[in-house]
Amino acid sequence: MPTDTPVAIRTANLTKSYTSGDTQLVIFENLNLEIPPAERLALVGESGAGKSTLLHLLGGLDRPNEGRIFFGDREITGLGQTELANFRNRQIGFVWQTHHLLPEFSALKNVMMPLLVRGVRRAEAEPIAMKRLEEMGLGARWTHRSGELSGGEQQRVAIARALVTDPQVLLADEPTGNLDHKTGEKIADLFDEVHRQNRITSVFVTHSVAFARRCDRILRLEAGRLVEDISRFGAIQSDNQDMTQGHLAGLQGEDAPQKTARGEDGTNYV
Ligand SMILES: Nc1ncnc2c1ncn2[C@@H]1O[C@H](COP(=O)(O)OP(=O)(O)OP(=O)(O)O)[C@@H](O)[C@H]1O
Ligand SMILES: [Mg+2]
Repeated sequence: MPTDTPVAIRTANLTKSYTSGDTQLVIFENLNLEIPPAERLALVGESGAGKSTLLHLLGGLDRPNEGRIFFGDREITGLGQTELANFRNRQIGFVWQTHHLLPEFSALKNVMMPLLVRGVRRAEAEPIAMKRLEEMGLGARWTHRSGELSGGEQQRVAIARALVTDPQVLLADEPTGNLDHKTGEKIADLFDEVHRQNRITSVFVTHSVAFARRCDRILRLEAGRLVEDISRFGAIQSDNQDMTQGHLAGLQGEDAPQKTARGEDGTNYV
């Protein structure tokens, strides 16, 4: 149920559906989610459940059919395109499964880009971006273009880019999905460190059990509802099973403890 405790992100009766030909595909309806400040939330669920869709809505990259999204007291669902773009640039850092670095630019220029977009002068942006690269252990790679970096290094550049504006919120869609287990662990360590230093509110979409377990809370999107997994995947026997090798539902087990609070109108609050 909604509470009086402060929230960083809140959705109110969020509904998203896609129309394809004559059919309407409802991804979720009346979704009510509250994320407290500094929480690290793992969002899990089967492929096609709507995790990326929800993340895109939270990040203002897509709009819901109905419902509202708030960052603190500010409603982002009411913002126009330009306002929304500015809001994204200032408040949100995104990390994707693939890094989306600009191939023609150096690592440093890629990290500087969100600052340049918002009008920060190059001379000012450069040291800030360099500091972020150094934090990611890439100080010696700043001249490299993305094609001259390993997958893990590219992802670290992408994280540096996401954090260069000191965003309030970090949204990451399968940030370790394309990496081998060991590199994925290192990236997860970096996210831990980032959180320790910045207390940034984070939402991580992931198929990795190990990654999800590092988070404060795990929510599973299933049949259009969000279900809290209070077991922290305790039902799964093996620690090193990675969901990239199988579907979540298959690994998770039907009897994993769950918690949802259902409103009188049938909506669920998590
Ligand atoms: N633009 C679109 N038009 C129509 N249907 C869409 C569109 N984008 C996504 N979908 C559908 O919405 C559903 C949810 O997609 P989404 O990408 O959010 O899933 P996901 O949980 O992130 O899956 P995965 O783990 O595979 O990334 C899918 O069935 C997908 O086919
Ligand atoms: Mg997805």
